[in-house]
Amino acid sequence: MGRLHECRIIDLPKVSDPRGNLSFIEGGRHVPFDIRRVYYLYDVPGGSDRGSHAHKRLHQFIVAMSGSFDVVLDDGLEKKRFHLNRSYYGLYVCPMIWRYLDNFSSGAVCMVLASGYYDETDYIRNYQQFLELAR
Ligand code: TYD
Repeated sequence: MGRLHECRIIDLPKVSDPRGNLSFIEGGRHVPFDIRRVYYLYDVPGGSDRGSHAHKRLHQFIVAMSGSFDVVLDDGLEKKRFHLNRSYYGLYVCPMIWRYLDNFSSGAVCMVLASGYYDETDYIRNYQQFLELAR
């Protein structure tokens, strides 16, 4: 079995309120890592793909803050497609997983919580190299 089984949808706390709902994310509690960085994808043109890389050490948690998109995860042995379309759950992605995002709706906002600062040396951007390292 590969690492893909470690990746999973995590439901977030949801405080339902007629004035508007509220969710929150605490590092080490709702996601299995401490949060060092937050970034987000927005104004994604229809038909566009993002991602297509893996990280050696980085843990991430991906939330559709608005709209919807798909995340495809691949551990070198198997692949799984997740459709994200609500802001009260997200997808945990462990290290050494090849991922790409597609099928963005108009107005989609993809928020990513990450365990580390931006570090280009943590990226694997070549799929063949990923397969050699993953297997
Ligand atoms: P990248 O992670 O390659 O995005 P994608 O794989 O979705 O295309 O990032 C795109 C560019 O943005 C990359 O050249 C570096 C920059 N970047 C930062 O400077 N800081 C960050 O936290 C991230 C995620 C990217």
